[in-house]
Amino acid sequence: MNKQTFNGMIWKALVLFCILTSGCTPANQEEPMQAVIERGLQTAGQHALQMAEILKNQDNKLPKTLKNGDLQTSDASSWTSGFFPGELWYLYEHTQNETFKQYAELFTSRLEEIQHCTTHHDVGFMLYCSYGNGYRLTGNPAYKDVLVTGARSLSTRFRDHIGLIRSWEFNAKVWQYPVIIDNMMNLELLMWASKTTGEQRFKDISLSHADKTMEHHFRPNYSCYHVVSFDTITGQPHKKQTHQGFADESTWARGHAWALYGYTMMYRESGKPEYLAQAQHVAAYLMNHPNTPADKIPYWDYDVEVTPETPRDASSAAIMASALIELSTHTGKAEGKKYVDYAEQLLRSLTSPEYLATPGSNGHFTLMHSTGNLPGNIEIDVPLTYADYYYVEALLRMKKLLE
Ligand code: GLY
Repeated sequence: MNKQTFNGMIWKALVLFCILTSGCTPANQEEPMQAVIERGLQTAGQHALQMAEILKNQDNKLPKTLKNGDLQTSDASSWTSGFFPGELWYLYEHTQNETFKQYAELFTSRLEEIQHCTTHHDVGFMLYCSYGNGYRLTGNPAYKDVLVTGARSLSTRFRDHIGLIRSWEFNAKVWQYPVIIDNMMNLELLMWASKTTGEQRFKDISLSHADKTMEHHFRPNYSCYHVVSFDTITGQPHKKQTHQGFADESTWARGHAWALYGYTMMYRESGKPEYLAQAQHVAAYLMNHPNTPADKIPYWDYDVEVTPETPRDASSAAIMASALIELSTHTGKAEGKKYVDYAEQLLRSLTSPEYLATPGSNGHFTLMHSTGNLPGNIEIDVPLTYADYYYVEALLRMKKLLE
């Protein structure tokens, strides 16, 4: 056997090993990170423009996912409604292309009524990604008004004697006052509103919510519960469960990603060292978890039995990448490098053919292989609008960091 044939066999064996152990085509580690970022952003832009073309004349429609290959949309009321407008704002920021801006304005306007929503906690997700990015980039005073009204609506869900924002109303026979880890993400709107209006109350609510979540949602190893329900009289937890995870005592990957992002963001907004420490512990848990595949894109829950069919959650990977890049800016250089290196691995994998869809495919979503709610038998191994939003955010954060 000549040397070339031998080398070829070794390479094929390596590729096969990678496919068997990670379930994916290996990301190209040679491509410069700047090129990975540009390729990812360009692909996301192509998908987003095609999606916008399809939906621009469909009143109130916003993209959500694919079901059996068909586009699933929602109106403003879905918790996912703000992500597509938010992605369009990011793409406008990146390209300065007016078409992205016009589409961002159009799809953002579809959420206007959400400023008055008081029936669930997701107002922060919905408005801060859409109107929040729009206001940041344009300074449009009408956007500011929507955001402040939205922050007031969200604040109505806070009870002083419990010290947390209530997440949901459903399942009331089991949960007296459910608070999910995802709710950390809604605090960014309130912290913004406090700075913008000068009203301390928004900040007090956010700090109280983050403190109580730190106290009650985490296990000693810094993995988190998805749902903690509080007794409305004593204000103490009476149930710790899951809704979208594998088991009450398991670690649902996206919940863990929200925790990482939430505490990193709250450290940025408050400067409280406890939040930085929490984010560092949460990051250590996921970066060292033995159930992490070779390409680092997590399975949908850290505690599921792994088979070749176990679904991944690319949305968690995108959220984690974005959060880790930010976390790296709040720590010392050596520690920060660990977070950036891990985020780079996540982004290289997401920008490989295994996860990044070719324009014209995947229903015009950018990423493949996310999992929304496996126990509910909903959105398993599909594209999800929020995976695309956090992927673009992470690419832009990485680009800024490298520059
Ligand atoms: N906030 C809902 C989810 O992460 O699926």
